[in-house]
Amino acid sequence: MPRRLISIDDLSKEEINSILQRAKEYRAGKRESLSGSVALIFLEPSTRTRLSFERACKELGFSFHSVSRPESSIAKGESFLDTLITLKELGFCMAVFRLNFVLFPYKWLENIDIGLINAGDATHQHPTQALTDLLCIMDEFERLEGLNVLFVGDILHSRVFRSDAKLFSLFGANIGICGPFELLPEDLSPFGDIIVFKNIDEAINWADITIWLRLQKERHKHPISDSSYFLQFGLTKERHRALKGKFMHPGPVITGVDMEESLVYSEKSLIKAQVRNGLYIRMATLKWVLDG
Ligand code: CP
Repeated sequence: MPRRLISIDDLSKEEINSILQRAKEYRAGKRESLSGSVALIFLEPSTRTRLSFERACKELGFSFHSVSRPESSIAKGESFLDTLITLKELGFCMAVFRLNFVLFPYKWLENIDIGLINAGDATHQHPTQALTDLLCIMDEFERLEGLNVLFVGDILHSRVFRSDAKLFSLFGANIGICGPFELLPEDLSPFGDIIVFKNIDEAINWADITIWLRLQKERHKHPISDSSYFLQFGLTKERHRALKGKFMHPGPVITGVDMEESLVYSEKSLIKAQVRNGLYIRMATLKWVLDG
């Protein structure tokens, strides 16, 4: 039976370390010649996740077929379950999916005999982004234990925060958050002991590494002013100077809102490394799912 990766909770620490190790081997040039067909179902927009999965499939030897929401029969009312059964019957060995709805609970997926990878389901989980971010931090610090990791921005709607915070806590990091009050989750208990900072400058002073998150306007019920948000929570030149270490952003970055345009790829930025490592993590995740 192939494996499934829906949430970061689906992985043990041992499995995470093994995926990281394999990603590093691929980064160092190791190659595979695997066979099989992978279906990529993307119901929400994506550049880096979709294209890195497409490239990862090609690098590993898989054939792949991508379908976006308007091309998918889900747009005509088909259920996600029927879509997965159809993919299995068409001979696909794995399905990689980005969904515009939350896949929770997902125990019912256990009986579906096809490998599954969640490439981001609405505000719930984005496990391959979390593994990518972990690899970037490990490259930088060689550990997570005792590290202060700060998330800034739209925490409420962030599947990256929900995946990263659980993963980094598992590896012993301290997690802090800072953002507009209305964009903080009411219940933070699933993520362990989270420090909530009211003052961004105090938060930046605490952090060894800071992860800015995109303001997800498409999910907001009430509009937030771009300029006011940027002044209160964005990465400005002053805050950039105050950063003790590097900063990250899963992308896409909304320049002038999440951060000042000239800082996106500064010497303190790990954003390009996040994109590069995303390819190797997705190769390693596809292999992990296939191995079953
Ligand atoms: N980080 C991320 O998921 O980016 P895309 O939406 O471009 O895939």
